[in-house]
Amino acid sequence: MARSGWVIGLGTGSTAYYAVEELGRLMREEGLLIAGVPTSHASEMLARTNGIPIKTLDDVERIDLAIDGADQVDGGKNLIKGLGGAHTREKIVASFADLFVVVVDDSKLASRLGLGVPVPLEVISLAVPAVTRRVQKLGGQTRLRMAHPAQAHGGPFITDQGNFLMDASFDEIPDPRSMERELNLIPGVVDNGLFTQIAATILVGSGKDGSVSIIE
Ligand code: A5P
Repeated sequence: MARSGWVIGLGTGSTAYYAVEELGRLMREEGLLIAGVPTSHASEMLARTNGIPIKTLDDVERIDLAIDGADQVDGGKNLIKGLGGAHTREKIVASFADLFVVVVDDSKLASRLGLGVPVPLEVISLAVPAVTRRVQKLGGQTRLRMAHPAQAHGGPFITDQGNFLMDASFDEIPDPRSMERELNLIPGVVDNGLFTQIAATILVGSGKDGSVSIIE
């Protein structure tokens, strides 16, 4: 899928992990020459470990391909992302890419976004109470994401940009495009985890037999 000379957006999460490892292998074993634009500190460290040269958006004029996972996908190629907390950078990198390819297993497919999966919101900390009320007006309930108990400082989860994360639960989201806009209109929300009209291709791996189907 990747060609020499390409700049590739490197997603975050357990699925993107395998893509980054594979790109590293192709560089080492098959002479592929690429550069990577990471979407998190974690993906940057993984890319460096795999020998992938790192670029920032300042260094590149375009990203040829961005590859990432997702937490939920509907039939219209709309996504929920950010259960790993990296959706803000992921959306910036994906929106800068000529081609955004998403890789999921079939457990991530849903008839409607929001069914059982919250929409992560990256939020400036002082805005948490105001965001809570605005999300209630949109029919949702929020929960402040807490750090993993093993994380040294405990307390709220802190994003790579130094902000808090709130998870907004809706029964379902009938119009993801409009919800993405509404959530980003709330003062204090940096970006939300709805990715609408941005994924070009979804590769869906079957949990049963490992076959891959393509949504285009
Ligand atoms: C990171 O914040 C997320 O957007 C991930 O891309 C998403 O949660 C998918 O992660 P997994 O591949 O680990 O399920």
